[in-house]
Amino acid sequence: MSSEVMPANQQSWTETPPQNPPLRHAISQVVERQTWLDKLAAPLQSWLLKLYGQPGEPNRKIKDMLNGTWLGHALHPVLTDIPLGAWSSAIALDLVWLTNEDEGVAQGSDISLALGILGAAGAAVTGLTDWSDLDGTDRRVGIFHGLLNSSILLTNIASLILRLTGKRRAGVYLSSAGYAVSLFSAYLGGELVFAKGIGVNHVAWEGGSDDFVAVLPANDLVEGKLTRVDAAGIPAVLLKQGNSIYAIGATCTHMAGPLDEGTYQNGTVTCPWHGSCFRMSDGAVMNGPATYAAPTFAVRVRNGQVELRRLDHA
Ligand code: FES
Repeated sequence: MSSEVMPANQQSWTETPPQNPPLRHAISQVVERQTWLDKLAAPLQSWLLKLYGQPGEPNRKIKDMLNGTWLGHALHPVLTDIPLGAWSSAIALDLVWLTNEDEGVAQGSDISLALGILGAAGAAVTGLTDWSDLDGTDRRVGIFHGLLNSSILLTNIASLILRLTGKRRAGVYLSSAGYAVSLFSAYLGGELVFAKGIGVNHVAWEGGSDDFVAVLPANDLVEGKLTRVDAAGIPAVLLKQGNSIYAIGATCTHMAGPLDEGTYQNGTVTCPWHGSCFRMSDGAVMNGPATYAAPTFAVRVRNGQVELRRLDHA
């Protein structure tokens, strides 16, 4: 019996059937497939982006404030803790009230519910602002998360009105239903952050060399032109101005846009994707939506080569 050796490019492979996605991803994928959400998302996003304008315009400062650029951290997750905490307190107090109908417990629950409503209003505005920079399936999950949260907010306002007009038991049942939905919505918010990377520092995991590494012949640098280089596995963008050479990370901390494809003006580079501006001298964020500074590098020229050393990583 002769045996034939099958050429490498003709080998037959046993196909591994796709596994069922874990439940958490299955839920997210169901939301991602809801194309009807785009009909609402597109005009709303377009209106928001027009409202906030371009970097340097007055309303853009409001957007930066709501994104959390001034804080160095996304503002939305800070505010979402308020309604979730307050409404958790309210539901615990409601459970106690259902057993003893104590007036003080009822008042405590109403105050918690009202605090949660105030916090949810702030979380809604900041969340909507962050959402205005999303696209594709992220935008769908984001708007579905926002629609759920809006309905929970209205439900809790209605619950508070019922409680204050003598229909406490109905109000308690209504806010309890809202609380259950808020847990699901919080899960979707977590999916946006932890699975899709919305709101995180997109260069947090970049390392870099503690020693200087050569990245480019100094003669290749063109005055005033952004130049991308590789600094021991980290993309960096160089800029030559007179006798100075500046270098910051080339990956935008907001959503990983390529800063070397952006524009340079007045000491800052503007990301081509959503307009975040970073100062070339120290990586500081001058305009959002980015909230985290760009990585920075020490620069020197040795033997005709530009050399970089990462400055700010642990
Ligand atoms: S990726 Fe969004 S501003 Fe750069």
